[in-house]
Amino acid sequence: MIRHIIAAIATLLAIWAMVFMYQLDRESERFKQIRDIIEKTKMEVPQAKTSTPPIQQIEEPVSVEEQMKKEEDEVAKKLKSLRERAGSAMAFKVSPMYKQKCSSCHGVNGEGAVGPKLIGRDQAYVYQALMDFKSGKRKNYVMYGLLMKMSDEDLKALSKEIGTFEEKMKAAAE
Ligand code: HEC
Repeated sequence: MIRHIIAAIATLLAIWAMVFMYQLDRESERFKQIRDIIEKTKMEVPQAKTSTPPIQQIEEPVSVEEQMKKEEDEVAKKLKSLRERAGSAMAFKVSPMYKQKCSSCHGVNGEGAVGPKLIGRDQAYVYQALMDFKSGKRKNYVMYGLLMKMSDEDLKALSKEIGTFEEKMKAAAE
């Protein structure tokens, strides 16, 4: 049934295209005749000026706030669905700070979700990453916005904790 409808539409389109081409042909024929007449009478046809002043392309600078908002919206959307799934998958206990500030994106045990997996990252790596996000050396508006409001002690504590995730996960698996 659907195939017949598609075939019918295709046929109609083909016919329409043919009619269109035919009319185009006649039109151009008529234009040629008019041009010939003008040629014969040697009349000067004033040429319409087609050159329009160049339109300046103004590139809207994307503000940092806009960019931040966009990324935050995207993350918020993913988070909503993740929050619904998370919760029961916990293999070991984490600190309230990790749970509250990081688990939504990096997983209840750092297994990764919106944000990358943190299990297996040692303390030094995590601390360096956090410092780089906070200073803007490593650009990520989500992490930056989050860390901006956190103290160095918090970052150190979190790095230390995340550094133990791999061991804890192994212990939990046994
Ligand atoms: C809203 C989501 C979100 C939250 C909340 C969040 N992160 Fe992230 N995190 C990300 C994303 C996305 C990246 C990847 C950024 C990139 O690599 O540019 C990331 C990257 C990282 C990295 C680097 C990982 C790597 O493999 O290099 C570390 C470490 C990290 N986050 C730690 C944390 C800690 C600690 C917290 C809690 C204070 C936290 N994150 C909270 C989204 C989040």
